[in-house]
Amino acid sequence: MPNKISLTNNFPVIEKSNELYNRALGLIPSVTQTLAKGPGQWVNGIAPKYLVKGKGSHVWDADGNEYIDFMMGVGPLSLGYSYPKVDEAIKRQLEDGITFSMMHPLEVEVAELIRDIVPNAEAVRYSKTGADATSAAVRLARAFTRKNKILCCGYHGWHDWYISVTARNNGIPEAVQANSFTFNYNDINSVIGSIDNDVAAIILEPVVFAEPKDNFLHKLADLCREKNIVLIFDEMWTGFRMALGGAQEYFGIKPDLATYSKAVANGMPISILTGRREIMDLADEDIFFYTTFGGEALSLAATKATIHELRDKNVPKYLNEQGKKLKDGYTAIAQKLEMDFTRAIGYNWRSMASFDEKAGDPLVQKSLMQQEMIKRGVLWQGFHNMSYSHSDEDINFTLAALEESLAVLKNAVEKNNLRGTLKGEPVLPVFRKVDNFNMKPLKK
Ligand SMILES: Cc1ncc(COP(=O)(O)O)c(C=O)c1O
Repeated sequence: MPNKISLTNNFPVIEKSNELYNRALGLIPSVTQTLAKGPGQWVNGIAPKYLVKGKGSHVWDADGNEYIDFMMGVGPLSLGYSYPKVDEAIKRQLEDGITFSMMHPLEVEVAELIRDIVPNAEAVRYSKTGADATSAAVRLARAFTRKNKILCCGYHGWHDWYISVTARNNGIPEAVQANSFTFNYNDINSVIGSIDNDVAAIILEPVVFAEPKDNFLHKLADLCREKNIVLIFDEMWTGFRMALGGAQEYFGIKPDLATYSKAVANGMPISILTGRREIMDLADEDIFFYTTFGGEALSLAATKATIHELRDKNVPKYLNEQGKKLKDGYTAIAQKLEMDFTRAIGYNWRSMASFDEKAGDPLVQKSLMQQEMIKRGVLWQGFHNMSYSHSDEDINFTLAALEESLAVLKNAVEKNNLRGTLKGEPVLPVFRKVDNFNMKPLKK
């Protein structure tokens, strides 16, 4: 019998997952299209690898085991799986068509909605992936300033200009690599120290887990204005989640350009670029930013329905409230169990468990927690990506599962037997990193 969500489960049977995985090995390089969903982020041998169904905050794997999901498709499922109002909008649009030979009215309707919500949205463009939008923003910034260099902080997608600052920079011409640099979040001096006359744009995730300190974001905005640098907020995570209009609304800062995706369409593929008219207008004729599926109507219908629901139900407030129960609950349990080496950090709408090295390899600690949570029916990568479908019942069950799992971790740490308690292979580090990630300070 497949597992249900229960504190008394055995490890799930994952035969079908493993069978699919074995078929993918050798056929699909790296096995996955989305690194964060791939096997490297899940305890090999314990965690399922393929999901086939979702409803609300719950998912079912290929073997029929049920879980409460806290990854939510790595961000997009802001309302929840199979959310009726969004799915109905998609189905209604499907009756009329998916992609057309001319523009579709939804392109205008959704742009107007976004203009009303996103503070800097004097103009709006769509594309399909987050990387499309960040790359378009970078191209616009270069065209507008007639400069070349890009300073970035966070993760901005798979395109050359960004991946060149990471360790996976093979296949990228040196000339491209020579124009991208990173800076440290909350370290205005690292930004100032990296600026020369050729910096076109500063692009960053306005927040990841740490909060901005000492007015960091405002100082960045001032610096950009002073030096004629385009400030780009990459709001893939913050947008339509931290506040409807994202971090720019939350912090009261208007970046020159901003990029959105994930939460805005509850799982449908769309990304959005917003910004100052005079910069965005360069997309009229100066720069080229077009793609076949840019105005695909199912995603636009989903976006419209999702935005209405996010706004009508004040979903950002709900994510904050529910997430707070989980984040504070995690830390309270750890304290009760006298585990000073772990706590939950970050914002309530997306918190993360952190593990100190003093208790052993943090990745093995996280893996052990994941193993124990999966056994109890919670799909857990250490992140709590909250959605509108995470009910009190889900949170209470998850806290009960966390309490038992943390007790297992405590025992393993005390017996110096972390690796022995872990039945599968530990997870790999997440690719995203926000500090000191292959920093390439400019040589003056
Ligand atoms: C902050 C941020 N920017 C850009 C991207 C790239 O988006 P995509 O994977 O849709 O290209 C991501 C994806 O996770 C992201 O989190």
